[in-house]
Amino acid sequence: MKEQTVLAHAKVNLTLDILRRRPDGYHDLEMVMQSISLHDAVTVRTETGSGEIVVHAGREDLPSGPENIAWKAADAFFEAAGIVNDGVEITIEKHIPAAAGMAGGSADGAAVLRALREFLCPEMPDVELERIGARVGSDVPFCVHGGTALAEGRGERLTDLAPMPACSMVICKPDFGLSTPQLFGRVRVDDIARRPDHGAMKAALAAGDLSGVADALCNVFCEVLAEKERHEILHIRQVMLENGALNAVMTGSGPTVFGLFDKETAAQTAADALRREYAQVFLAEPVNQR
Ligand code: C5P
Repeated sequence: MKEQTVLAHAKVNLTLDILRRRPDGYHDLEMVMQSISLHDAVTVRTETGSGEIVVHAGREDLPSGPENIAWKAADAFFEAAGIVNDGVEITIEKHIPAAAGMAGGSADGAAVLRALREFLCPEMPDVELERIGARVGSDVPFCVHGGTALAEGRGERLTDLAPMPACSMVICKPDFGLSTPQLFGRVRVDDIARRPDHGAMKAALAAGDLSGVADALCNVFCEVLAEKERHEILHIRQVMLENGALNAVMTGSGPTVFGLFDKETAAQTAADALRREYAQVFLAEPVNQR
């Protein structure tokens, strides 16, 4: 039996733009994604002898069977690599909030792919692993890739960008969930009023200019929130801004809001203020390698 524990880093969207609806039902996106220090720990054991994929999901409300992205990733890996599965056991220590816009499930799937590659096909290049990831979910290729990247297409076409400058982040997930397909369903691409300025974001990253990065944060999903959702997200953003955030925005299809801080003490104060109202508040920082 072989065993390895891999850190599965969450992501935030520094930008998210929706360009068009595609004939396959997905949308072409343009987004700057950033890995962050908040992570799950995924332990993968191979050669268990069972011939099955077994997932211990870490929380009762998360699926442990084929609906779990970690399970799908293992299945897709064996199929793509043409290797017979001699039995895999995956144990997830869950810290990333689920259904939060932080790619928590995709991060676990990517961690499984990386561990299986190391055990079974160490020569497999990253692009091939990302390709397998794309079959499992739109955010999995970025989670395999990590760092700071522009993601295009469904999210699978990745271009490295200059690493995000060091900063403190406060992350707050309100107590409601948002369904990704439902939110995509609400978007009318011709009606989007304010889109991210990717030129400004890339220039700020290249210059290591944290204020410029903060100014260029933008997520078009914010325009299709229902009134109650919008109100709560703006409230969280306001608490962050009042406590010294350079800016704050919703990540992915939400509902998590993250704020960028140039002072750790301010981030700490903002997190304390939010903890009086919200159960899921985290301090984090950008991670620029896997
Ligand atoms: O690929 P994934 O399973 O993560 O996507 C979840 C849902 O989000 C899809 O079923 C689709 O409704 C929507 N989606 C989309 N365009 C993308 C990514 C996701 O419409 N690029």
